[in-house]
Amino acid sequence: MIQLLANTRSKEYPVFLSAGAMAGAGRLWRSLGNEGKVVIITDSNVAGLHLSSLAQSFAASGASVQSVIVEAGETAKSLENTTGLYSRLFALKTRRRDAVCALGGGVVGDLAGFVASTYMRGIKLIQVPTSLLAQVDSSVGGKVGVNIPEAKNFVGTFYQPDMVITDPSLLKTLPRSQLVEGLAEVVKYCLISGEDFFANFEMSHDEFLSLNLAYVEPVIRRCIEYKLRVVSEDERDFGRRAVLNLGHSVGHGIEAAGRFELYSHGQAVALGLLAAVRLSVQVLQLPGEYPERLETLLKLLGLPVRIEGIKPAQVIDAMASDKKADDLSANMVLLRRLGEPVINCDVEAGMLRREVERLAAEA
Ligand SMILES: NC(=O)c1ccc[n+]([C@@H]2O[C@H](COP(=O)([O-])OP(=O)(O)OC[C@H]3O[C@@H](n4cnc5c(N)ncnc54)[C@H](O)[C@@H]3O)[C@@H](O)[C@H]2O)c1
Repeated sequence: MIQLLANTRSKEYPVFLSAGAMAGAGRLWRSLGNEGKVVIITDSNVAGLHLSSLAQSFAASGASVQSVIVEAGETAKSLENTTGLYSRLFALKTRRRDAVCALGGGVVGDLAGFVASTYMRGIKLIQVPTSLLAQVDSSVGGKVGVNIPEAKNFVGTFYQPDMVITDPSLLKTLPRSQLVEGLAEVVKYCLISGEDFFANFEMSHDEFLSLNLAYVEPVIRRCIEYKLRVVSEDERDFGRRAVLNLGHSVGHGIEAAGRFELYSHGQAVALGLLAAVRLSVQVLQLPGEYPERLETLLKLLGLPVRIEGIKPAQVIDAMASDKKADDLSANMVLLRRLGEPVINCDVEAGMLRREVERLAAEA
């Protein structure tokens, strides 16, 4: 079992990573000195697949276990569900010595984490991520929250979990489209983490796609380690943590221009990464081989490399109104080298427009 240590200003906590780790969740939780009840929050897809094994693991360690199931999908991340969950926790007599355990993808992790961070001013939180995106990214770092009708992720807190159990074997039940969705974030980590990681992933991506866990586990580990390092330096996202937004400003523009229907988050991020890497060549003299290498990799992974069905101007307009792009020309993350992301890069508006147009134009 690999044990990584998250070391943030607000909390230190272990991330246990290995295939089969979920079976030991109860024992691990107990070994950290916890004795209270565990309320598992999961979604309607994951419940039928993994809930009973996790509940058994906690029960076998002597914990009293309850579970609450929310509907699967982004709409579950709502204030209505949040208040409903407060009431369920209250009805179950959940108190501060007890824990909420989020079993699911990023939606459940964000929702259950937000509930845990605010119920009784904060109770214990365990993250058991089941999607690739949640395993490599959202389950660590402590950003939790919900959507409001006007905007995604607009209400939330920074609240680190007390334990994370990352079990790559859970990915075996993940639909292929959701696996590919998470791969966009993996590619982002390859780019910001270093040439060796990128080159390894280029070579082993098919092993990853077929979920050969001997290849999957070290890739997930590298992503988590990177994120933990960044979060330990900048827990509350005042500076360095912005490197995690590589590809996300153009990506959000594409997602919003497609009304969150035409392009999924991962697809939009893939396109945003391509734009960012091309801009990096022009602005920071990133070696010119990377745009082509990235494009080839994205295609092999089943991610898009051009936009269809939306106009470049719509993307630019959406970027201008995006919360993460107040000043369009001075707020991009680019790469000087692989492993050397630079935040707040000054990209001239015309150059940005040309790159978005290029995404729409190329065959
Ligand atoms: N907190 C953060 O730092 C952070 C970072 C990135 C994204 N996010 C958030 O994460 C969310 C997206 O997360 P996601 O992509 O995991 O979406 P998700 O939680 O909706 O999961 C995707 C789909 O896969 C299903 N699923 C998950 N694990 C499964 C498994 N093992 N087997 C079968 N089905 C499974 C889910 O039921 C769902 O239908 C967004 O709301 C986004 O805002 C948060």
